[in-house]
Amino acid sequence: MKFSSKAIHAGQEPDPTTGAVSVPIYQTSTYAQEGIGKHKGFEYARTQNPTRSALEKNLAALEGGKACFAFASGMAAINAVTTLLSAGSHVVVSDNTYGGTFRLFDKILRNFGLEFSYVDTREPTNVEDAMGATTRMVFIETPTNPVMSLTDIREVAEITRRRGARLVVDNTFMSPYFQRPLELGADIVVHSTTKYLNGHSDSVGGAVILNDQEDIDRIRFIQNAAGAILSPMDSWLVMRGTKTLAVRMRQHDENGRVIAQFLTEHPKVKKVHYPGLKSHPQYDLARRQMSGFGGMLSFESGSLKNAACILENVRLCTPGESLGGVETLISHPATMTHASVPEVERNRLGITDGLVRISVGIEDVEDIMADLDQAISKIDAI
Ligand SMILES: Cc1ncc(COP(=O)(O)O)c(C=O)c1O
Repeated sequence: MKFSSKAIHAGQEPDPTTGAVSVPIYQTSTYAQEGIGKHKGFEYARTQNPTRSALEKNLAALEGGKACFAFASGMAAINAVTTLLSAGSHVVVSDNTYGGTFRLFDKILRNFGLEFSYVDTREPTNVEDAMGATTRMVFIETPTNPVMSLTDIREVAEITRRRGARLVVDNTFMSPYFQRPLELGADIVVHSTTKYLNGHSDSVGGAVILNDQEDIDRIRFIQNAAGAILSPMDSWLVMRGTKTLAVRMRQHDENGRVIAQFLTEHPKVKKVHYPGLKSHPQYDLARRQMSGFGGMLSFESGSLKNAACILENVRLCTPGESLGGVETLISHPATMTHASVPEVERNRLGITDGLVRISVGIEDVEDIMADLDQAISKIDAI
């Protein structure tokens, strides 16, 4: 099956008891057993739930992985993956990773004896240079949030395999419709399903997709033992979302390209970060490893005052955190998603006080453009 057919059918056979076309929300905590050890494969809902299993099969098929495990949030999924490691292990991380991922690594996991090095993974040799005898994992995000830098997944996968470590890719921004890291050699893919996979801004969740049998068995064990599972209702909402992933992503991409071009030409906008622009320093890599550019972009408004002015004056675009929903969301990374990253580090990464991020939705693009234009026209010229 091709992508759109898998999105609609993988894991979603009609319900065996009623023929219901939509997988039922099995809202139950436990299952009746016929006798000691006699059950239908379902004992307790932390361990197994049919709605969650359907979603997990669906996401595994979309990412081209052997197995998927769904978690209560993207952060819970990332946390589960890091617990594959033990104290003393070293992890190399993209220096421009999502602020919440940095917070988990720096403020929690470091206390348990894991060590992290943050490097500019745009240059694969930086990854290799940072690896040592105890490096067990490389964790990258591509494109990064919010400055849209890319890492060459194939090249970094080659390095990590040669050095006996796992490559984990956070594929939240592109979704499997535009980028499939496992096919490029990565070992594990993580998602915040809260974003494009759900696509309707009505659920928080996460997923881990992988191929190695030993890691699959361990993540299954961790999912049950630590218990940060995705609820049946949220599993259903994400599955409802993935059915339209292909058409939504095509529209996000189409609108994203138009808005990026519009901002580039806007006299009050200084710089636009979007991998689909020929001016993006990694445009060729974007074309090679992604089949579209998506709907995420950011631009430089010049100052905190200007960024605040834009967020306060938009009418159609919604100011707020998160991304990947059908509606256009506009945010200020320095005070929202990346507030936990120290200021010096933020400035080094280009997450300036004037940076504004847009998750371009699938409204009529003329309306998005007109709204941004009226809000940006109110700022001071840079
Ligand atoms: C790239 C990326 N990864 C992970 C996460 C965390 O996901 P969640 O908010 O579902 O825990 C986010 C959240 O914004 C994100 O943008």
